[in-house]
Amino acid sequence: TRVLFATSEVFPLVKTGGLADVSASLPDALCRSGIDVKILLPGYPAAMAAVRDGDGERIARFSAGFHRVELWQTRLPGTAVPLWLVDCPEMFDRPGSPYQDSEGADWWDNAHRYHLFARVACMIALGEAGVGWLPELIHCNDWQTGLIPVLLDPIPNRPATVFTIHNLSYQGLFSHETFRALGLPDHLWRFDRLEFYDQLSFIKGGLGFADQLTTVSPSYAREIQSPAFGYSLDGLLRFRQNVLTGVLNGIDTRHWNPASDEHIPARYSQGDLANKGSCRKWLKKELGLEATDGQPLLGFIGRLVEQKGIDLLLQVLPTALAQGMQAVILGSGQHSYEQELLALAARFPGRIAVTLGYDEGLAHRITAGADIFVMPSRFEPCGLNQMYSLCYGTVPVVHRVGGLQDTVFDPRDVDPEEANGFCFDAPSPEGLAQAIQRAATLFRDRRAWRKLQDHGMAADYSWQQRAQTYEGIYRTALAGVRAGR
Ligand code: ADP
Ligand code: GLC
Repeated sequence: TRVLFATSEVFPLVKTGGLADVSASLPDALCRSGIDVKILLPGYPAAMAAVRDGDGERIARFSAGFHRVELWQTRLPGTAVPLWLVDCPEMFDRPGSPYQDSEGADWWDNAHRYHLFARVACMIALGEAGVGWLPELIHCNDWQTGLIPVLLDPIPNRPATVFTIHNLSYQGLFSHETFRALGLPDHLWRFDRLEFYDQLSFIKGGLGFADQLTTVSPSYAREIQSPAFGYSLDGLLRFRQNVLTGVLNGIDTRHWNPASDEHIPARYSQGDLANKGSCRKWLKKELGLEATDGQPLLGFIGRLVEQKGIDLLLQVLPTALAQGMQAVILGSGQHSYEQELLALAARFPGRIAVTLGYDEGLAHRITAGADIFVMPSRFEPCGLNQMYSLCYGTVPVVHRVGGLQDTVFDPRDVDPEEANGFCFDAPSPEGLAQAIQRAATLFRDRRAWRKLQDHGMAADYSWQQRAQTYEGIYRTALAGVRAGR
């Protein structure tokens, strides 16, 4: 099967979150199992630098509307997967985040940028780009690719489309004026098409028009069909529930494996965790934390936004730190959270280390060196960090929601032989505090703790099985389109 995997981020070239990780590791797994998959990515500067430095070549040159576009081909670093870049400098050659300027404001023309990206994907799919390869299916990801199924919809013999929801809260909402400026046909401005409470919704295009929908965990697939998690799109998602599947993300076990990780000071595996202790020691040293032992070291890595429940953690940490626990935090995001974290660090020197910014190596060292990994997310479509932690023998404490509840099992709920972490129900400071206390208590029982670590480390988080589920969804989508549905 020929699959074009359209995405706005891919690790290690452009990443703001887990979408980038999945956009690298899922195509890699599909490619290994014999699917002819190509990744399509906007030609951001970091990506274009990779083709120019490497063995990239230009494979097509054409016009899309007013824009001159070149298509460049290279391979995704470290894999055999072909990576196609949409080079259109006036749209994508901008430094920093793919979506925002250096002040943190969305680029004014994001609708135009991702409309162009969608058009190029469709031109490739319909043989209008002059590349001798036609996908049978386009796998779209999040709002940035939401217009692809819409643009293809009226076309006879079009490829099949699958749309994956990585995060329903980012929707790509724009004004009616923008809708007109994009030149989209008037009939799409309807409540059951692209119009959403008087705005243009990119994600709604994907949700309404793709042949198959997926999201990144079974629990999130259920949650988004309810008003509490559906952002008023729950009705549409219930309407499309027959084509909606929750497939738990896998992780890239070559990048995230404590036995071979080059970012950590000492490697270890399930059989012998002695070096995990060394990782903790080095991490504390690196970040200037007191070398005390006996109390757990808490870790948090993530975008500092409301979704991740960092405000809950901020309320709970003072007590935990006063009790002697320690914490390492790595993240960037909302300014107010960054300031509060820095203030906390000033109040508890030696107890808490706060690193603002993005640091891949430090993320690995925290995952290895922490005892407990905290994820109090209010909602979490899948979440990758809890899976990374489980692999590294770092016990997760999570809010029972989305992909977190599909991967973390509390001894209160499951057979002790299956427990691997702690869950709490209400996303409140009290709920989080109690779960951290339960974890800290069990931490002192070395044997019981080791069992939790073992269960986490023994499980299979790889993409192999999970990619097969996607192959099945591709087959269903293709069969549907061939049957002329
Ligand atoms: P989301 O996509 O909602 O941000 P995920 O858990 O799916 O959440 O993925 C987040 C990814 O981004 C993980 O690979 C995590 O390690 C990484 N990450 C987030 N913030 C940082 C940071 N400040 N430095 C390094 N890696 C980070
Ligand atoms: C989103 C979600 C996260 C998920 C990731 C990859 O960014 O917030 O939960 O793991 O996409 O699918």
